Amino acid sequence: MKRVTNFYPGPGALPLSVLRRIRAELLDFRGLGMSVMELSHRSDAALHLIAETLQRLRRLLDLDESFELLLLQGGASLQFAMVPLNFSSPGGKVDYVDTGYWTAKAIAEARGLGRDVAVAASSGPEYRQLPPQLQVRADTCYLHLCSNNTIEGTQWPVIPCVDVPLVVDMSSDILSRRIDCRAVSCLYAHAQKTLGPAGTTVVALRRDILKRIPENLPTMLDYRPHIAHRSNYNTPPIFAIYVVGCVLEWLEDEIGGLDAMEDINRHKAALLYEAIDESSLFHCPVADGSRSLMNVVFRSTEPRLDTQFVTAAAEHGLIGLAGHRSVGGCRASLYNPVSLEAVEELVTFMRRFERRLAT
Ligand SMILES: Cc1ncc(COP(=O)(O)O)c(C=O)c1O
Repeated sequence: MKRVTNFYPGPGALPLSVLRRIRAELLDFRGLGMSVMELSHRSDAALHLIAETLQRLRRLLDLDESFELLLLQGGASLQFAMVPLNFSSPGGKVDYVDTGYWTAKAIAEARGLGRDVAVAASSGPEYRQLPPQLQVRADTCYLHLCSNNTIEGTQWPVIPCVDVPLVVDMSSDILSRRIDCRAVSCLYAHAQKTLGPAGTTVVALRRDILKRIPENLPTMLDYRPHIAHRSNYNTPPIFAIYVVGCVLEWLEDEIGGLDAMEDINRHKAALLYEAIDESSLFHCPVADGSRSLMNVVFRSTEPRLDTQFVTAAAEHGLIGLAGHRSVGGCRASLYNPVSLEAVEELVTFMRRFERRLAT
């Protein structure tokens, strides 16, 4: 077996022990004589699996009973539509923080649905740091922001506190660090970066915001049927949910919980940023204080050298280091399953690449 070191931005690496466990359990899930993929979604085993995964998520996110927690489908992109549909009406005011590619998509979706969108702050056109101040309309239905900007490599060190309902896209940093969710009314995150494979999306909703949901939404786009049916309104992606459960168990039992995970993630990012800052070939365009722990973007002195670096790294078994096609350069995604050893290997390779170029 040959495994590469995976720095893909999502879907990305999964813990090897989780993959081994999936392989071991594939043909006979919990002694039932069939794989988890063959279970009826109405069976006790499936109901139990969903409930158990939601319970682990609730514990790790430290959400109390004032929150509903869901596992949905449609990825984060569907939440770009469900959020305005559920928490505002056509023509209603909704505020967004513009921090790059994915928030632009969320803004466009809300506009397309006829909402009165205001940009509360923008870090464009360069998106190299987070905006210092927010101008939120007092009568807005909600403020939407993205906690970690996967493409631009920026991350809110602390989620801002506002006087209006706050909606946070946490797709690329959920459960990578401790976040105080008490100030948040809705958070969502697809699974395929820090939680498992693509196919399921975590949504947490404060109960008080549910009162705003209008009556005429298509059933699948209304959060309430999903809540009433405990994330089993229609056939759920049980395999993806199962893998998320395995990853959460790994986080709790092998890593030692969220604080231990955060320490490892901080250590990994510090190591890589230090190597970039010391380098005379590479630099990080993101301002200190806005740098992401999850997606480290960097570039060299010329695009040609970026391509050369990404190709040479891939030949060396370090995969997925190209920057997003919209920005170019390089990016290393350091999601939870990416080990400290993987980052050490990358740093060693970057130094060697730079030395070789200089000779
Ligand atoms: C922060 C963020 N939000 C939203 C999305 C869109 O996710 P999906 O492909 O699940 O719709 C992405 C994709 O990578 C992302 O990084």
